[in-house]
Amino acid sequence: MRVVTIIPTYNEIESLPKTVARLRSAEPDSDILVVDDNSPDGTGALADRMAAEDAAIHVLHREGKAGLGAAYIAGFRWGLDAGYDVLVEMDADGSHQPEELTRLLSALREGADMAKGSRWIPGGRVVNWPIHRKAISLAGSLYSRLMLGVTIRDITGGYNAFKAQTLRTIDLDAVESVGYCFQIDLTWQTLKAGLTVREVPITFVEREYGDSKMSGGIVAESIVLVTKWGIADKWHRLRAKRA
Ligand code: GDD
Ligand code: MN
Repeated sequence: MRVVTIIPTYNEIESLPKTVARLRSAEPDSDILVVDDNSPDGTGALADRMAAEDAAIHVLHREGKAGLGAAYIAGFRWGLDAGYDVLVEMDADGSHQPEELTRLLSALREGADMAKGSRWIPGGRVVNWPIHRKAISLAGSLYSRLMLGVTIRDITGGYNAFKAQTLRTIDLDAVESVGYCFQIDLTWQTLKAGLTVREVPITFVEREYGDSKMSGGIVAESIVLVTKWGIADKWHRLRAKRA
């Protein structure tokens, strides 16, 4: 299994080296692709220096901040073109423990098409998250379960591993979300394609350095898109029943 872990960055100069070092020692067989949106703090240049010293590290530079979704799509295309068998999503800020990646990879080996790190199943937890972030995350997952009729407990989670075939099956051009709704989008597309998503418990640790890029716009995008997808899905089901 050739694995690449994709790490999107926007102003993560303190966090990125720590996360990459942990990942290199926890999962030495995984290559790394940093996707930087021209971070003003110089994260992109730092990533280049790390890549110059380690052949397993690659960097994709983008022009400017265009959202988490767009960064991952560019990273997925790079990874699929390069022929990796497994593509992993991981935050740069240390919230996703590289030491837990092995469990996501095991879930794929055991047959899942997508393995999803989950904070909200038994064994999963969050450390140092303010109460309002917990509330947004739980409410977002609950609303998605109700609207989309899925059973996933942590659908907004961003620590995910995909078989390459999964990303080839879903239409990456059809992914319309820009912000963190992207995580719901990918999970929903995978489920709609009839593929299996397995949740794996993770410990999510709030970042020590830098700032979250979470915003009201990101929440609004999620509400609008999940509502739209839910209505479209109910409509299709109704029509299928009538026909
Ligand atoms: N390239 C790029 N461009 N990277 C970005 C952008 C962007 O526009 N926006 C955010 N990132 C990167 C950050 O630098 C970080 O590595 C990662 O994406 C996650 O961003 P955070 O801002 O730290 O996210 P969070 O901690 O608030 O949110 C976490 O929880 C969300 C809700 O469950 C993440 O895991 C999200 O993926 C998740 O949806
Ligand atoms: Mn974070």
